[in-house]
Amino acid sequence: MSTNIATMAYIAAIILFILSLGGLSNPETSRRGNLYGIIGMAIAVLATVFGPRVTMAGVPFIVGALLVGGSIGLYAAKKVQMTQMPELVALMHSLVGLAACLVGFASYVDTSTVFPTEAEKSIHEVEIYIGILIGAITFSGSVIAFGKLNGKIGGKPMLLPARHWLNLAGLLAVIWFGGEFLHAPDIDAGMLPLAIMTVIALLFGIHMVMAIGGADMPVVVSMLNSYSGWAAAATGFMLANDLLIVTGALVGSSGAILSYIMCKAMNRSFISVIAGGFGTGGGTAPAAAGAQPAGEVVSISSVETAELLREAKNVIIVPGYGMAVAQAQHTVFEITKLLREKGVNVRFGIHPVAGRMPGHMNVLLAEAKVPYDIVLEMDELNDDFPTTDVSMVIGANDIVNPAAEDDPNSPIAGMPVLQVWKSKTSIVMKRSMASGYAGVDNPLFYKENNRMLFGDAKKMLDEVLVALKA
Ligand code: TAP
Repeated sequence: MSTNIATMAYIAAIILFILSLGGLSNPETSRRGNLYGIIGMAIAVLATVFGPRVTMAGVPFIVGALLVGGSIGLYAAKKVQMTQMPELVALMHSLVGLAACLVGFASYVDTSTVFPTEAEKSIHEVEIYIGILIGAITFSGSVIAFGKLNGKIGGKPMLLPARHWLNLAGLLAVIWFGGEFLHAPDIDAGMLPLAIMTVIALLFGIHMVMAIGGADMPVVVSMLNSYSGWAAAATGFMLANDLLIVTGALVGSSGAILSYIMCKAMNRSFISVIAGGFGTGGGTAPAAAGAQPAGEVVSISSVETAELLREAKNVIIVPGYGMAVAQAQHTVFEITKLLREKGVNVRFGIHPVAGRMPGHMNVLLAEAKVPYDIVLEMDELNDDFPTTDVSMVIGANDIVNPAAEDDPNSPIAGMPVLQVWKSKTSIVMKRSMASGYAGVDNPLFYKENNRMLFGDAKKMLDEVLVALKA
């Protein structure tokens, strides 16, 4: 393939990636967006493999790697549950980071490229240094995020004493070793500062994510998503591959925008989340923070729930992670359909961090064919709870916790929540009194107008549906 054809293919791929991102911004166009992404990636891979920079001798290796990588991807896509997607994504981010590090070290020891001027050589070395730095932070941070998301590492933040000073010392050391690296007379001499910086970056990635409180994980996941984009862009610079630079920049900037949106939604400052320790009630240990909720909980049966729903005029359904675990979205849709046929105004309230990944609830509800126009963002209906007869909370916990508003010592203080307790009756559907992802108690359960429907969400909703039909 000639250079011109490869360049044209790259431009086509870039346009498809942009269209893909545009499509993914709305559930109605997301399938098309996904398709554009698939076609764009196929073109990008083919144009690279058969492009001018790959010799025929290299093709069998690339095809072998494609087969291995493709099979693992196919297996993971088939096997991974929807609820495990965030972990998978975190793991994939870690691979992008690892790739950036490996490419960085490989390009440093590769002596085949001859640089016409000293300045160009230095620029290439800066690319290598920054690429490995971002790659190493992304790699170790994503591995820790993977552990936190799948529960292998506890959700509580690890707060080292003087952690901000440690971060600052790390940053200064990275800058100093950068100078040593650039002034190294040969590859052997440059390897030591490069390796030391890599270790510091790996430790920083671990420290950064370990210090994040449970409820702030969504910001970290989207931030690592952004880092993985910049790591890919850095790899593009090291390999002088324009497509990788543009694609990486697209992922990096869209991830940064998503992190900003997440921070705004959670009422967090971006810098505080990166510096770590957020979600800890200002540095105190979460376990000790906040008044313990007291009182008794009142349970309700599925038949009583059906009666309340039948008599209601306005119902708001708040889905959370538990709906995803129970795979209850189809029954939710059946109930919604039935109630709407009876003239009940049913709407869905979606919290920006409900579930375990951005848009998690929207995807599930779209899969169950819930009409988009009744699925509303938190801000769109939070003022409507006082005029709502029944709020049905399905497997959600942190996103409806009034402590976020009432208790300044709570680890989730300041995070906006869906104010279900303001409705006439709220019904919380979950299996036990266990806390949610952030590990904090929920005073909602003890409120006078709240009822608990204990059990698996799918099972209980099936019973509610039967009772509604009776
Ligand atoms: P959570 O606060 O995690 O609460 C989910 C609740 O669902 C649990 O309390 C659990 O209680 C219940 N549950 C689990 N399985 C169930 C089942 N089969 N049937 C019925 N209930 C079930 O979820 P949320 O309210 O959606 O809030 C999301 C949390 O995750 C936030 O803290 C958020 O910061 C964090 N997070 C979000 C993301 C993104 S991007 N969305 C990413 C990482 C972390 P039982 O065990 O008693 O049933």
